Amino acid sequence: MPDPYLTDSDLSDGQAATPITLVKTSDFDAWLASQSTAQQQWIQSSKFAATAGQHCWLLSSSGAPESVVAGWDGETSLATLGGLPFKLAEGCYSLNHPADELQLLGWGLGCYQFSRYKDQEHTPAQLVLPIDADSNRLDNFVRAISLVRDLINTPTADMLPSHLADEAAQVADTQGAECRIVVGADLLAEGYGAIHAVGRASEDAPRLIDITWGEADHPLIIAIGKGVCFDSGGLDIKSATGMRNMKKDMGGAATALGLAQLIMSESLPVRLRLLIPAVENAIAGNAYRPGDVLNTYNGLTVEVDNTDAEGRLVLCDALALATEAQPELMIDFATLTGSARSAVGPEIAAMFSNDDALADGIHQAGVAIDDPVWRMPLHEGYRHMLDSKVADTVNSASSPYAGAITAALFLAKFVDDVPWVHFDIMGYNTRTRPGRPEGGEAMGLRAVFRYLERRYRS
Ligand code: BES
Ligand code: ZN
Ligand code: ZN
Repeated sequence: MPDPYLTDSDLSDGQAATPITLVKTSDFDAWLASQSTAQQQWIQSSKFAATAGQHCWLLSSSGAPESVVAGWDGETSLATLGGLPFKLAEGCYSLNHPADELQLLGWGLGCYQFSRYKDQEHTPAQLVLPIDADSNRLDNFVRAISLVRDLINTPTADMLPSHLADEAAQVADTQGAECRIVVGADLLAEGYGAIHAVGRASEDAPRLIDITWGEADHPLIIAIGKGVCFDSGGLDIKSATGMRNMKKDMGGAATALGLAQLIMSESLPVRLRLLIPAVENAIAGNAYRPGDVLNTYNGLTVEVDNTDAEGRLVLCDALALATEAQPELMIDFATLTGSARSAVGPEIAAMFSNDDALADGIHQAGVAIDDPVWRMPLHEGYRHMLDSKVADTVNSASSPYAGAITAALFLAKFVDDVPWVHFDIMGYNTRTRPGRPEGGEAMGLRAVFRYLERRYRS
């Protein structure tokens, strides 16, 4: 993929970028009236009315294409410029007026395509950044989010726990972070009974990836991601349609890794730890079973009601380990429940938190950076749904209702009073929108990064 952005110095002598003018839908009539009669006729015959997503070439007096006008809804979002890279012909473009960072980011994110297994037919257009834009920062955002998308889009055969661990180790290495990985039977020896149980039936051993970065005296932040590289459902096997897209069940891990990469590349003054339990929820003779009781890292015993509620199991060991370190804040991302998708749909991240100010701060950050999150309640009244007759808790509630909430309440048992946010995400765009191509997606990443930046960058 060519770089989405260029700077003036990338243009060769005499090479000119095609200017783009944004026209607000509500300003269209006035703008049209300011054009020459010939241009007006051309614009009207092109049916351009400056609605969002529309664009139109303007012609010079000799009839040659000279510049582009694009419709704009007047909001600042990824969509302002995010649809243009693949709508415009290949080449360099520039903006005729100021654009903010979010709009410029939309261009970069709109250039993404997944090309690991086939050459894509179209090359996205390139944008010459305004001189006051921070091209390094934009590159860091685009790289982090493209990494998340690539990891999710890669099929399981090439994105098993060992591959995910290699990807994480490579990010750590590039950023000068420490990386420790606990693999297979060592998980049992160190007390991670749940991660081991979920992942032991796979040919590719389960593992816990543990990355640390930053100065020891900076505030400790821990990011955690559900790394289920494929979720067959285990013995409580999923249906064919339910299983079809479960390569994306490591979307939480990908998002946490992308967030970590962004934090490190942007040198946020925090001490960062990243924990990824990476497993395949597979079926074999040694698979864990409904009714089994697991010993988890903080000593709680868990009766397995359903082996398809595996995400909360791998997360509970990681959350307990994180809690032991007493961080200032911990954040987990997980493609955890179908119930969260019923509640808020595929395009909004469901958020749970034990800290109101934290949840409000992330919600506001999400609004500002076009990364929608919606808080849901950790309703104590549903806790009884996790009661077990033989262990401290079951992994999956007895009731068919409130599945996202009971999953979050299960996680809360491993968190104590550490300030904590849990994101139950789709991790996937089910349709292409400007700046958001169909396929793997980082959801909640920008909201959290912006929140952290506000809080920790003086
Ligand atoms: N990975 C799934 C959840 C999921 C399904 C996320 C579809 C996004 C789209 C998770 O491991 C799962 O299977 N959850 C079950 C839990 C149930 C067995 C208690 C669910 O949500 O149905
Ligand atoms: Zn599952
Ligand atoms: Zn799952």
